[in-house]
Amino acid sequence: MLSYLHGFHSGNHADVLKHTVLTAILARLIAKDKPLRYIDTHAGAGGYDLNTPAAQKNREHAAGIGRIWLAPDAPPAVARLLELAYRYNGEGPLRRYPGSPWLAHESLRAEDRLQLFELHPAEYRRLANDFARARNVRVLHEDGLKGCIGLVPPPERRGVLLIDPSYERTEEQREVIDAAVKAHQRFATGVIAIWYPIIDRYAADKFERALRAKGLTPFSTYELCVAKAERDRGLFGSGMFVVNPPWQLDDELAVALPWLAKELDRDGAANWRCESTAR
Ligand SMILES: C[S@@+](CC[C@H](N)C(=O)[O-])C[C@H]1O[C@@H](n2cnc3c(N)ncnc32)[C@H](O)[C@@H]1O
Repeated sequence: MLSYLHGFHSGNHADVLKHTVLTAILARLIAKDKPLRYIDTHAGAGGYDLNTPAAQKNREHAAGIGRIWLAPDAPPAVARLLELAYRYNGEGPLRRYPGSPWLAHESLRAEDRLQLFELHPAEYRRLANDFARARNVRVLHEDGLKGCIGLVPPPERRGVLLIDPSYERTEEQREVIDAAVKAHQRFATGVIAIWYPIIDRYAADKFERALRAKGLTPFSTYELCVAKAERDRGLFGSGMFVVNPPWQLDDELAVALPWLAKELDRDGAANWRCESTAR
């Protein structure tokens, strides 16, 4: 059952949060002159046209990337994402928004290698097509949560694992925790970044407690809620759990998240969180 299509949601507040954190992680890692591996377990289509009927249905991007497009005062982590998004969009008004594979490929260097998993046949075809000529990218039509385990530790011994499911199935949280634990056992120094939705505050907190109980350290939580926590409000927030956050990532995001909360606020109740275990 693969009914989720990211094209309905591309560029929304959750994408802005996830991609701000992801590109900040990659920028910090490439500061070191050694190759690294990027593994995207749920890659999506790679990038999205915002004029399609899917994107126009609820125009989620308008309340996300649309609110900060061309902002003159974005803090460094958001300015980095915006620069990449402008490059993907090209000149003119906002009409296209990149996905995690494109952002990662653009952020990384020729010597870095990327492995992108996508199960949905049509999304996989678009992704494979977009990266057909990229020599350092492999696109895999396989289950990313299972497939990523065999790929770690990578020969480079440095790397990022992005886990970004749609959480449509109730078992998905447990599967994500199992995959993160297994990946961490095999690759203790790897960065593991896990996106999670906040539709139900209680469920999101329970997920965080379950993951923290596994003792994957150091561990940071970066969260952005754009509205008051209320039942039946849909996706009012999201976050990223990051195992082995790069040095000073917290400092950069502790500046970016309050700015995003201010800009993407819907009802005066937007809030953010940046919490880390001791190193
Ligand atoms: C939230 S979207 C990914 C968005 C993308 N990471 C981004 O930030 O642009 C989740 C994607 O995972 C795919 N998917 C679902 N289950 C999967 C699995 N077990 N392995 C690989 N891909 C999967 C879906 O088809 C969907 O395209």
